[in-house]
Amino acid sequence: MNIENKHILIGITGGIAAYKICELIRKFKKNGADVQVICTPNALNFVTKLTLQNLSQNEVFVDEFHPKHWKPEHISLADWADVMIIAPASANTIGKIAQGIADNLLTSVACAFPKPMIIAPAMNVNMWQNSGVQSNINILKSRGAEILPPESGFLACGYLGRGRLCSIDKIFDCACDILSYSKILSGKKVVITSGGTIEKIDPVRYISNFSSGKMGLALAKCANLMGAEVTLITTKDVDVPFKTIKVQSAKQMLESVNSEFEGADFIIMASAVADYRVKNYSEQKIKKGNDETITLELVKNPDILKEICNKKQESLKNTPIIVGFCAESENLEENAKDKINKKGCDFLIANDISRSDIGFNSDENEVIIFDKSGGKNKLEKSSKTLIARKILEYINH
Ligand code: PMT
Repeated sequence: MNIENKHILIGITGGIAAYKICELIRKFKKNGADVQVICTPNALNFVTKLTLQNLSQNEVFVDEFHPKHWKPEHISLADWADVMIIAPASANTIGKIAQGIADNLLTSVACAFPKPMIIAPAMNVNMWQNSGVQSNINILKSRGAEILPPESGFLACGYLGRGRLCSIDKIFDCACDILSYSKILSGKKVVITSGGTIEKIDPVRYISNFSSGKMGLALAKCANLMGAEVTLITTKDVDVPFKTIKVQSAKQMLESVNSEFEGADFIIMASAVADYRVKNYSEQKIKKGNDETITLELVKNPDILKEICNKKQESLKNTPIIVGFCAESENLEENAKDKINKKGCDFLIANDISRSDIGFNSDENEVIIFDKSGGKNKLEKSSKTLIARKILEYINH
């Protein structure tokens, strides 16, 4: 990957692994990238400003108030960078960024940064396992940050366990990977659905499924990096730099998909839509009676994918390209072939949801892409991010 003249912003926080970032800066510079560095005041206890300045061949920023430029640093640095890397990221800085606290230059820039961000935490094993730290990590993940988890080994604090900064090569490769997205979807509108729909029974209970929304979110993030105008219609809370529409039920999802249909070049239905909803929603909480069983009457939900495929046919336009997903627990290929014909979509992405290592709620997936002319292409197991990227490249070719 050619990263020549790419703008890399590196944020260093206070941790012993700060010294390793010198090697990262060198690697970026050797490959022709332009590097700027921000340190938290504590980072300078572990590495000197002069070292970082020499390696990056740029001024190193620490303070928020700098009289040199009219534009505050936290805005101009955020505007300048193509990607921001925070490494090592301390529990303290991770917490602040997750909660939107901006009390130093690094956290202020992170707060004002809508572009791809890589976070490589490093800390004591018990700190890493702390539930507060983990929930902050999950917040950052849901916002689309790329988290490079710490690795196991001997820690500087004397402990043995997970906590040491991941390898410099991993951080470098991750940044190169992000920067390598070619803008193949520039000028295209991509609509993606994601997450399991929620069909309410009464004010307390609902019917749903195990879809976490990760596959749909990965597709939306990749499409955004590929230059598309993205709309993510989702049942989950996400905080991303493109348009999102939050929905609950299949009916609401159908309305939103219809409202985004016009002008869309691609519609990708990665959400797990409930096939049925309760016939009569109870306005009041259903009370526990004396009977041992209770019967809920269900009615069919609209089949969103089928409806939009019909709509496309009726319009006689050749757009949008419609992509369905197919979640199967048995006879994956047979069922997928049957489904692509029944639904009438251009592509169908089949995944096996009986496996715990892929499909629902995992960070990885393995899929087979079927197209309406009978072709198929298997994408071997890898991260949902990589699967998403390959799907988008495939359906756009
Ligand atoms: O969200 P994750 O935890 O990351 O998991 C990802 C995933 C497993 C949910 C995803 O990869 C996936 O397979 N999504 C489709 C799930 C599904 O509902 O499959 P299906 O085979 O039941 O439906 C086929 C297609 O029709 C899907 O595109 C679905 O969105 C659509 N559909 C289904 C029912 C319905 N009433 N309307 C629809 O539009």
